[in-house]
Amino acid sequence: MAGKGSSGHSSGYDLVVVANRLPVDFTVDDDGEVRWQRSPGGLVTALEPVMQKSDGAWVGWSGAPDLKHEPFEADDMLLVPVTLSRSEIERYYEGFSNDTLWPLYHDVISPPTYHRQWWDAYRRVNQRFAEAAAEQAAQGAVVWVHDYQLQLVPKMLRDLRPDLRIGFFDHIPFPPVELFQQLPWRKQIVEGLLGADLIGFQRGGDASNFVRAVRRLTDHTTRGPIISISQPDGSPGRHVRAAAFPISIDSQRFDRLARQPEVQARAKEIRTDLGDPDVMMLGVDRLDYTKGIRHRIKAYGELLQDGRLDVTRATLVQVASPSRENVGAYQELREHVEILVGRINGEFGEIGHSAIHYLHHSYPPEEMAALYLAADVMLVTSLRDGMNLVAKEYIAARSDEQGVLVLSEFTGAADELAPGPLLVNPHDIDGMKDIIVTAASMEPKEQRRRMRRLRRKVMGDDVAKWSESFLGVLTAMPHRTSYV
Ligand code: F6P
Repeated sequence: MAGKGSSGHSSGYDLVVVANRLPVDFTVDDDGEVRWQRSPGGLVTALEPVMQKSDGAWVGWSGAPDLKHEPFEADDMLLVPVTLSRSEIERYYEGFSNDTLWPLYHDVISPPTYHRQWWDAYRRVNQRFAEAAAEQAAQGAVVWVHDYQLQLVPKMLRDLRPDLRIGFFDHIPFPPVELFQQLPWRKQIVEGLLGADLIGFQRGGDASNFVRAVRRLTDHTTRGPIISISQPDGSPGRHVRAAAFPISIDSQRFDRLARQPEVQARAKEIRTDLGDPDVMMLGVDRLDYTKGIRHRIKAYGELLQDGRLDVTRATLVQVASPSRENVGAYQELREHVEILVGRINGEFGEIGHSAIHYLHHSYPPEEMAALYLAADVMLVTSLRDGMNLVAKEYIAARSDEQGVLVLSEFTGAADELAPGPLLVNPHDIDGMKDIIVTAASMEPKEQRRRMRRLRRKVMGDDVAKWSESFLGVLTAMPHRTSYV
């Protein structure tokens, strides 16, 4: 794809990404000076290769309140900050995105809150993102909108710029219509998404949930993955495609990182610092109630209690990176996890042998790669997860073909990676305990057999392929600019 557009909106870009966050973090000094630095999130990694190739623009929020900043160039792309006020952060981001949609889309693990003021802010902010994208896009450009925070943008953007090709990718699950229909604004969300030409989901099941919601909640006709949008006068309209595009990671980069001598030395050092356990287990998650952290820790604590694991020979390292700390459900989760960890350490720990090493921090990729290399067993026990990239990072790091992945059935990754991992239902604590014991005692030969299979999948399907495949399908779709 070319860089800046040459016709119509002549100063525009041929590829515009719209996501809640920009791929940089901003800080404001005491003297009011604004600085930024790259933030290494999953989406940035996913889109970096394609953005650098196409010299595109990225529209997103800076992460700070009330920050007004002109668009600027960074890493071969134009970054376009969208300003959010403190009250919009509370209502659009913490409220509607993360206390309404997030729990609703994750099987109502935590009860969603429905507030009309939050909805109003969500609409207003989505409109602002749509306007910013419309301003940057060249005539006929491709605009790729991301995730649940921006589901109204496709339609708003199409109303402003019918010449654009619009793609949307949902990074989180799309719920069954029986849950989705709780949402008072369900029809507006479905129509918002249908402004896109192509709607991508992590799993085939998410795409079918969406198509069922379209059938149940609108008059549009559907045929397999194709939805036909009729015009008000009954004349033929556009077609929208809903399909699965499972996301991945930059597998080669992670593999290379984990082969670096310094990273390998750090992995050894971690094991030494842990007291050279026979079995090191690892959990790496944002501190989020969807990740099943409590279920995992409960199972682990019971294994110590039952004497099936011995604290002098096994240990669990749990990295729980801080997330959405102003949302009540996340504050409660933190309290529960920390009480549980304290209780288990108090009851089963010995001098020099903690049962659980709980780390409430984020770490750079080098340290993560060392942790993955050090871990004999990786525990991914989400109650619901769009994909789970940690599982894929663990596999990419293990070029030694050792290590066991315990993976929840309720992750998108399980759909793709089975039968290589040991699959678990995290609600079944007894079942999970048995699987953890199996993982902890797996022979190196069996570990190798499974890890080889997992690596064939993950090393072959990296994130560059994911974005190329999504954009390939989007740009190949018939484009009918006359219909809005
Ligand atoms: O999984 C959805 C997602 O929005 C990711 O894109 C992101 O890395 C993560 O959740 C954290 O989100 P937030 O922007 O709320 O910190």
